[in-house]
Amino acid sequence: MAMIAVVAFESTFGNTRAVAEAIGRGLSAAGVSVRVQAIAETPARQLEAIDLLVVGAPVCRGHGTSEAMQTWLSRLPDGCGRPAAVFDTYFHKTLASDTVPPVTACLHERRWNLVVPPVSFVEQGPDQPLVWGEAGHAEAWGALVASSAAKVATP
Ligand SMILES: Cc1cc2nc3c(=O)[nH]c(=O)nc-3n(C[C@H](O)[C@H](O)[C@H](O)COP(=O)(O)O)c2cc1C
Repeated sequence: MAMIAVVAFESTFGNTRAVAEAIGRGLSAAGVSVRVQAIAETPARQLEAIDLLVVGAPVCRGHGTSEAMQTWLSRLPDGCGRPAAVFDTYFHKTLASDTVPPVTACLHERRWNLVVPPVSFVEQGPDQPLVWGEAGHAEAWGALVASSAAKVATP
């Protein structure tokens, strides 16, 4: 049976959504049954029966994650060791992302198993589209997430 995945993202200007959709295409091409949804449309109960969770958020220095993302993460069901992955989007990051660590910490706390290192996708500037090639990068990363998740036994 096909692995069931959700790619849950937060996006104001559309780049994180575009990356999430490209990751969804990569997962789908690898045989995963995937839904790509904003966190606002992703209730915790929907995550109780999935095999893989991917979470994406924009870099937001000084805030770590948005309040909406913090609330959503705090309601995550117990992952029971199920596979997960995290990504962010940004345009200028001189320091390491302040967004990925709180998201990964929350996923660990809720017993989701990060199967690949978090990855960042870059846009051309504030309110600008993604840098050329990033959609393909995201699609390839989706395929990597699928193959890494398949190696982890789900309960
Ligand atoms: C409050 C705030 C702080 C931000 N801080 C950073 C930052 O430190 N570095 C960066 O590259 N982008 C920063 N950004 C920009 C977003 O991370 C970036 O534009 C992102 O790709 C937007 O994603 P979206 O198109 O899905 O909304 C910030 C945006 C906001 C609203």
